[in-house]
Amino acid sequence: MSKICVIGTGYVGLVTGTCFAELGNQVTCLDTDPARINGLLQGQMPIYEPGLEQLVEQNVQAKRLHFTQDYRSALEGAEYAFIAVGTPSGVDGEADLQYVKAAAESIADIVDFPILVINKSTVPVGTGDWVADVIRRRRGDRSLEFSVVSNPEFLREGSAINDFMSPDRVVLGSEDRKAATRLAELYKPLRCTIMVTDLRTAEMIKYASNAFLATRISFINEIGNMCEDLGADVREVAQGMGLDKRIGPSFLDAGLGWGGSCFPKDVKALEHMAVLHGTQPQLLQAVMEINRNQRRRAVMKLRKALGTLNEKTIGILGISFKPNTDDIRDSAALEIIHLLINEGAHIQAYDPQAMDNASKVLKNVKLCESPYEVADSADALLLATEWNEFKQIDFVKIKQLLRNPVILDGRNLWDSELLKSMGFTYMGIGRAIN
Ligand code: UDX
Ligand code: UDX
Repeated sequence: MSKICVIGTGYVGLVTGTCFAELGNQVTCLDTDPARINGLLQGQMPIYEPGLEQLVEQNVQAKRLHFTQDYRSALEGAEYAFIAVGTPSGVDGEADLQYVKAAAESIADIVDFPILVINKSTVPVGTGDWVADVIRRRRGDRSLEFSVVSNPEFLREGSAINDFMSPDRVVLGSEDRKAATRLAELYKPLRCTIMVTDLRTAEMIKYASNAFLATRISFINEIGNMCEDLGADVREVAQGMGLDKRIGPSFLDAGLGWGGSCFPKDVKALEHMAVLHGTQPQLLQAVMEINRNQRRRAVMKLRKALGTLNEKTIGILGISFKPNTDDIRDSAALEIIHLLINEGAHIQAYDPQAMDNASKVLKNVKLCESPYEVADSADALLLATEWNEFKQIDFVKIKQLLRNPVILDGRNLWDSELLKSMGFTYMGIGRAIN
């Protein structure tokens, strides 16, 4: 059993802290947002993540998981301090490290015993060295025995607990290999591959992994756009490709592109790092351009189907950036809604989990309580997020409610032949338009 402090109770920190508690450790999660901590102390989750609420409750009951705003009590006797605060994009796409700095300085101010400082947040290559400098500078002549380890997270929202408990790999990077090996002990119960490397390599593994996954998606989306013109079906192209073991089937779903709090931020940050150090990241720039274009193409398809978007009502199903999360950061729906409104369209939208977050950012949008309210008197229906509950909606009712039987299936969720047979004008992504 180890004593662990996790700084930041967002999608990454809260899942990380709770899962370490579930493994039998003593964990204190800290956040500087009072509302977040007060909510957690009352059992209210600040985020929607399947299974998290129950796991938090179990570990709070077992007195392994604690929440506080106070750094001193959070760090008291801690052997490990995980930094899992946000690393949002700055103006030029660089990662904003102000919160990482604040956390590192708080550790430096308070800790007077040996500690491992672990970067769980996604940080640019070289940040680990920088965090060590921040701590040393802050300590001045007060010595402190510490090491910094990079331990990037590979958690997908919506499956974060499973991704933590059954990871493909744990990556640990440090200039102090003993420190990384010591941290590996925390992950031993997971019985997974634990890779120990140097700091910068670990930081780059995180960025390169996310950028590669985003590249796969932009690649299949570009192939999908060709399929539309050439009369092929991108879903079957992806299936045929994926049977090649070197390619594999995952992350080849054509759609409205990638969003969320990670891919957009991480690809931009990697591009920024490249340009800053003199490498021209043509591929990354193309990956981002294709992704932006995927949203514009969706708007173009709707405009073509309706003749104009001005004064038309578009129903949007799904606002979160992917199913099984309430996170709307950089979601395709948000960007498409913005583009549609710019052309004079009226929007009515629904999401199974993200309505609270959506209501904070979507002002002139009618927020609905069901897919049927979204379809009511709409000139077209766009599926932006492939929630399970949209799979079996009643299309007879949808058709009666729509002003025009026009559907843009942004995630190829539905059966195109069935919908065409019901008289819908069905448009998918990467599939022949009827
Ligand atoms: C984010 C990024 O999404 C992810 O790519 C990166 O690896 C880690 O940072 P996430 O958990 O999504 O992960 O961040 P977010 O949901 O924004 O939560 C960050 C939390 O840190 C918030 O609760 C915020 O209040 C807290 N925080 C922020 C602190 O506790 N201290 C600070 O100084 C700043
Ligand atoms: C991602 C990485 O998968 C994870 O390893 C990392 O730690 C954080 O970033 P996440 O952003 O939560 O996780 O979601 P993910 O499931 O990767 O989807 C990212 C985006 O890509 C979503 O917008 C999703 O809709 C889109 N996507 C995913 C596709 O468009 N097609 C696909 O085949 C897969």
